[in-house]
Amino acid sequence: MDEIPYIPGLENVPVVTTTISTLDLEHEQIVVRGYDLIELAKSLRYTEVAYLVLHNRLPTPRDLEAFHRQLQEAAGLPEPVVRLLEMAPSGMALIDVVRTAVSLLAGFEDPAVLSDPSPEANLRKGVSLLAKMPTMVANAYRLRRGLGFLAPDPGLGYVENMLYMLTGERPDELAVRAVEAIMTCSIEHELPNSTFAARVIASTLTDLYGAVVGAIASWKGPLHGGASAGAMELLLEIQQQGGAAVAETIVKERLARGERIMGFGHRVYRRRPDVRAVLLSHEFVPKLVDRRPDGPALYEVYRIVEQTMLREKGLYPNGDFPIGFIYYLLGIPSDVYTSIGVTARLPGLIAHITEQQANNRLFRPRAIYQGPRGLTLVGSHG
Ligand code: COA
Repeated sequence: MDEIPYIPGLENVPVVTTTISTLDLEHEQIVVRGYDLIELAKSLRYTEVAYLVLHNRLPTPRDLEAFHRQLQEAAGLPEPVVRLLEMAPSGMALIDVVRTAVSLLAGFEDPAVLSDPSPEANLRKGVSLLAKMPTMVANAYRLRRGLGFLAPDPGLGYVENMLYMLTGERPDELAVRAVEAIMTCSIEHELPNSTFAARVIASTLTDLYGAVVGAIASWKGPLHGGASAGAMELLLEIQQQGGAAVAETIVKERLARGERIMGFGHRVYRRRPDVRAVLLSHEFVPKLVDRRPDGPALYEVYRIVEQTMLREKGLYPNGDFPIGFIYYLLGIPSDVYTSIGVTARLPGLIAHITEQQANNRLFRPRAIYQGPRGLTLVGSHG
């Protein structure tokens, strides 16, 4: 074991081979199933890219129609899952409610299908879960706010339906386009902590639901998927304390205290721009700022935070920085951001779990022991 170097956090250590995606730093591209993710986000709808990630090819119009039908037909929730959403303690983080509901959903699969690790069975379970996620996320939120359960509208598309269930209103075209782009930008990103966690869990040949539950637990963390809500919180805090006039000072003070600014930095990109943040910041934020009375003032704060982070730390925003702000401008409540994020990532997670189990090698690394040895019981139990 001595000749294998210990790398904390497995930084830059390859641990799997994959045909799903890669972060091409040299060309500043996120390559998903051979395509540039930003091109996909600009040109296609979320469900088209979901199909590509899951099936490793773009859908024909007929494929897409069948996929939409599948998603619509499976979007309803078993009654006990609805009851679980109702029963969740009001202080429980929404993402934890969703994680628990995914766990319960596993109980409604045929046991033989649940334990089948074949690509066909994983795809079937995965699509069923993908279909239900927006219904679960939106209604977990609605029920805790006393808004009453809202079933998906079969006349609406996948993203539209999620927004409809969240807000109770049919979203306009720009809102749908912005959230489609956010969700496509979030659909797959090689091997972040949550995807790695899912693959580690899947490598025991346990079921897809268990691997997704583990990934959701990982996603919740503030260093990972929880950053979009944290980033928006910071903008609002700065706004409350004086806005643009104090933004630079507040960021510098926080940095001086050693605090992390949510929505900045990335383990792989380090001091390079994140192309997802570039697209979302440029394409959507300016078009949406006037949607809320405090939008323009917050946008000023947004830009000052961005400039200060670049000047002080050489760090660019990651995707979570514009995502939090766009959701805020669209009136989406901040306790839902993380859950929408993991919903968007589901096709990537399903593809990785499927890929892992189709060509499996159990993850079982080693640890460098630094504890004591040779302790004896004699005397200590006197
Ligand atoms: N705010 C302030 N400083 C940050 C920072 C941030 N968001 N991200 C990195 N840094 C600093 C570190 O303090 C360190 O500075 P130093 O060299 O002066 O000590 C340097 O950048 C390198 O950081 P490191 O801890 O090695 O980076 P990492 O690879 O472990 O961190 C993240 C990657 C994502 C965990 C980190 O950037 C972070 O915490 N970001 C905020 C959370 C976030 O937005 N997560 C979503 C990621 S998509």
